[in-house]
Amino acid sequence: MSIKVLSGKVFLVITGASRGIGKQIAITISSVLEKGSHVLLLATNLNALKETAKNIPAGVSVDTVSIDLSKPTSDKLHDIVVQSLKDKPADQFDRVVVIHNVGTMGNINQYANDLTNINNWHDYYDLNVFGPAILNGVIMKIFNENTNTEKTIINITSLLGIKPRRSMGYYCTGKAAREMFFKVFALENPQINVLNYSPGPVETDMYQEVCNELADKEAREQFNAMRTERTVLTCEQTVNRLLTVLKEQKYTSGDHVDYFDEL
Ligand SMILES: NC(=O)c1ccc[n+]([C@@H]2O[C@H](COP(=O)([O-])OP(=O)(O)OC[C@H]3O[C@@H](n4cnc5c(N)ncnc54)[C@H](OP(=O)(O)O)[C@@H]3O)[C@@H](O)[C@H]2O)c1
Repeated sequence: MSIKVLSGKVFLVITGASRGIGKQIAITISSVLEKGSHVLLLATNLNALKETAKNIPAGVSVDTVSIDLSKPTSDKLHDIVVQSLKDKPADQFDRVVVIHNVGTMGNINQYANDLTNINNWHDYYDLNVFGPAILNGVIMKIFNENTNTEKTIINITSLLGIKPRRSMGYYCTGKAAREMFFKVFALENPQINVLNYSPGPVETDMYQEVCNELADKEAREQFNAMRTERTVLTCEQTVNRLLTVLKEQKYTSGDHVDYFDEL
């Protein structure tokens, strides 16, 4: 499949690539990359990242780095990216593609009135909002300094960033804030292709957590019913749809595009 926004020799960064949707994104997207491209996979579980890396095709090099992205500092993120470039100039690549996939639910046992601990808010936003914004800025700076490298940025968002759900205060607000950040980024950088992709309900550890732990009984039953009715998607299904969205380019940069949208 030829996809313009993934074309040329690509430097690809994926966060949360050790399992779930991020792992599948790494496998599927690297399979369409040109020879000589390079993939940087980030998450905490190094062994799981190495399992992901085994599925990257020959001809595409890969680095796996264990990092807790809830403690993002621009210096540390800068060093990781520069080390992965292996001291070669960034302009050896035609394109940089960043996929901000990492995400957690936060505490879904509590309702909005109970979310009164500032440290819990900080922890949630550090990983899910501030981290992606900082990593994105760090990578843009590295590739802006001396190159005309094309750029494609994909933020993995959620329907729950635009639709509230009871007992999901951290998740809904975090997804909304992160998506709006990438909309502002798209507006400020009209030359960059930015997509906020909402993957639909997908069978992963995160989905399991929602089915087991969501405080709101009605919502919890709805999530479980989707499993019984077999309407929960596989990681392959949603990532294949992402590729089609990228190939067809029917969105405007910064748009929220859902798996189920008919573009
Ligand atoms: N599944 C769904 O139904 C669904 C629906 C809409 C949107 N989404 C979004 O899709 C994205 C992926 O979700 P998923 O369902 O695939 O989740 P998942 O299976 O729980 O995977 C989460 C990924 O994030 C990594 N991660 C978690 N905490 C981390 C930390 N502190 N530092 C570094 N990496 C960390 C995990 O790796 P380690 O454990 O190795 O750190 C893992 O690779 C998320 O942004 C989620 O909000 C999912």
